[in-house]
Amino acid sequence: MKNLVSAFIFVVCVKTISGDSPCVSRDVEYGRVCVCNSTYCDTVPQVLNLASTEYQLYSTSAENIGFHASTGKFSGNARSTSLSVTVPEINKNGEVIMGFGGAFTDTTSYDILSLSADLQEFLLQSFFGKDGIEYTINRVTMGASDFSLRAYSHCDTKDETLGKFALQDEDLKYKIPLIKKAQAIRGEEFKLFLSSWSSPVWMKTVEDFRGTGVLKDEYQALWAEYYIKFLTAYREQGVEFWGITPQNEPYSSPDWNINLLFTYESLRDWILEHFGPAIRNSSFKDLKIMLLDDTTIHLTSFQNTTLSRKEIYDYADGIAIHWYQNDKNQESWFNFPENLFVLGTEACQNVNGYLSNMMVRLGDWSRGVDYVNDILYDLNHHFNGWIEWNFALSNVGGPSWMNVSLDAPVIISEARDEFYKEPMFYVLGHFSKFLVPDSVKLDITTSDALSAANVKAAAFLRPDDKVAVIISNQSNNPVTVQINIAGAVESIDFEANSLNTLLYNQ
Ligand SMILES: *[C@@H]1O[C@H](CO)[C@@H](O)[C@H](O)[C@H]1NC(C)=O
Ligand SMILES: *[C@@H]1O[C@H](CO)[C@@H](O)[C@H](O)[C@H]1NC(C)=O
Ligand SMILES: *[C@@H]1O[C@H](CO)[C@@H](O)[C@H](O)[C@H]1NC(C)=O
Ligand SMILES: *[C@@H]1O[C@H](CO)[C@@H](O)[C@H](O)[C@H]1NC(C)=O
Ligand SMILES: *[C@@H]1O[C@H](CO)[C@@H](O)[C@H](O)[C@H]1NC(C)=O
Repeated sequence: MKNLVSAFIFVVCVKTISGDSPCVSRDVEYGRVCVCNSTYCDTVPQVLNLASTEYQLYSTSAENIGFHASTGKFSGNARSTSLSVTVPEINKNGEVIMGFGGAFTDTTSYDILSLSADLQEFLLQSFFGKDGIEYTINRVTMGASDFSLRAYSHCDTKDETLGKFALQDEDLKYKIPLIKKAQAIRGEEFKLFLSSWSSPVWMKTVEDFRGTGVLKDEYQALWAEYYIKFLTAYREQGVEFWGITPQNEPYSSPDWNINLLFTYESLRDWILEHFGPAIRNSSFKDLKIMLLDDTTIHLTSFQNTTLSRKEIYDYADGIAIHWYQNDKNQESWFNFPENLFVLGTEACQNVNGYLSNMMVRLGDWSRGVDYVNDILYDLNHHFNGWIEWNFALSNVGGPSWMNVSLDAPVIISEARDEFYKEPMFYVLGHFSKFLVPDSVKLDITTSDALSAANVKAAAFLRPDDKVAVIISNQSNNPVTVQINIAGAVESIDFEANSLNTLLYNQ
C-alpha cells in the first residue's frame, strides 16, 4: 500500500515539474488572465544561482500577465534617470517575514473539488508547489462562515457535554483532504491557523447564526472547550494547527452576517478566564494566539482595553488585522507592542459589492494593484505577513448560503473544467514566492521623483543571502529606474502597470 501511494505521488510530481510553462493568456471582460486546464498550467520560472554581478528579474504586467523571468548584469552603465532606489549593504534589524497565504473556506474547498483530478492538482501546485507561488500561512474556518454552503456547527443539537460534537462533511470531505494534499506539496513551511464565525446557536443569546447574539453566561467555559474538541478532532485526522484567533471579527461583524459578537471588555475577559487557559493548559499550548482578527478601526480601543492588561500577554503571540475600512493615514494605529507579531489575516475584492451578485471582475489589473498597495503599506508598518480570504471561488464568486459574492485570485469554471489566474494571483505571488519566510526588510532610500512617478519599491534580504527588490510601477507608461546596490549600479526599464521583483546576491 505504501509503495502504491508513493508511486502515485511520483507520477503526479513528474507531470508538474516539467520545466517552465509560460502563461496561456486569454482576454476576458475586464483584462487578461492565464488559463489552466486539465493538461496545461503555467508555472513560475525557477530562481537561478546567480554570479555576483548578475540579477534575475521577474515581471508581471496588465499587458503581459503571468511570471516573466529574465537575467541581466549590473554593468555600471547606468543611464541618467531621476528615479532611483538605493539598497543598503547590510541591515538585519528589519521586520521579519513570516509568510503569505489564503483561506481554506468551505466554499473554496467545494469549488476546487468540482474540478477534474488533474486540474485540482494543478491548482494546488499553483498555490503551494515549488513551481507555484508557495503559500505558507493559511487560514481554516471552523464551522460555517459566510463562505459555506449551509449554516452549521459541529454540535447543532443542544448538548452541554458536547458528546454530540462531530466533524461534518465540510471537514471530512472538503477541507481536510485538500489541506493534506496542500501540506504534502508545500512541506515543512506549511502553516495553518483556525478562526471561528459562530458558536452553536444554543450557546447564544439570540438563537441564530446571524443577528446580535452574544455567548450566554453559562456557556463561556463550554465554548472554550469546543475549540479543544475541534483541534483534537483535526489532530486525529492528521491535521495540526500552528495558530488560532479567538473569534473572527468579534467587534465589527454586522448583524446580517454570521457572527458571535463581543465587546472589547467581554472578549478580553473571555480570553483571560476561559479561552487562554483552555489552550495553554492543553496539548495545544504552543498555538500562536492572534488577537483582534478585525479591522484597524478597533485598534485604539483594543489597545486601551486589552493590550494594556499585562495578563493578556500569556495568551497573545500576535495581532491579526483585516484590510477592510482601513484608513492608512492614521499612523498612530500602528504602535504595536514589540513582542507581538502582526499578520494581515483577511483581504478580498470587492467587499462593497458583497451583497450584490457577481463580484468577480475577471482580469481586472486594478484589483491586483489594490493588493500591492495594501501589502507594501503593511510591510512598511510592522506587518510580518499577509493572508487573503478565499483563494479560489466559482465564476459567480461563491457559492454561499448567504448569497454573497466576492472575487478571488483564482476563478474556477466547473462547466469548462478550467481555472483562471487573475492579476491578484500574480501580484500576491511576487510576495509569497520571493519573500520567503525569515526574509528581513531593508531600509531602502528612494528618490523623490520615484514616488512622484507613482512607482513604489521595497527590498528584503532573504535567508539564502539573495536580496529581493520589489518595484511596482503604477503609471501608464514604462519607466526607467536606477538601482544602486553595494558597489554596483544599473538602470532597468519597467513596463507600464507592472509589478517586478529583482533578485541578486548580497
Ligand atoms: C489545455 O490548454 C492547452 C494550452 O492552451 C491546449 O493545448 C490543450 O489542448 C488544452 N487541453 C484541454 C483538455 O482543453
Ligand atoms: C489545568 O488543568 C489541570 C488538570 O486538569 C487543572 O488542575 C488546572 O487547574 C488547570 N489550569 C488552568 C490554568 O486552567
Ligand atoms: C484610549 O486611552 C487614551 C489614554 O488613556 C484616551 O485618551 C483615549 O481616548 C482612549 N481611546 C479609546 C478609543 O478608548
Ligand atoms: C438565497 O437565494 C435563494 C434563491 O434566490 C433564496 O431561496 C434564499 O432564501 C437566499 N438565502 C439568503 C440567506 O438570502
Ligand atoms: C510605470 O508605468 C507608468 C504608467 O504605465 C509609466 O508612466 C511610468 O513611467 C512607469 N514607471 C516605471 C518606473 O516603470
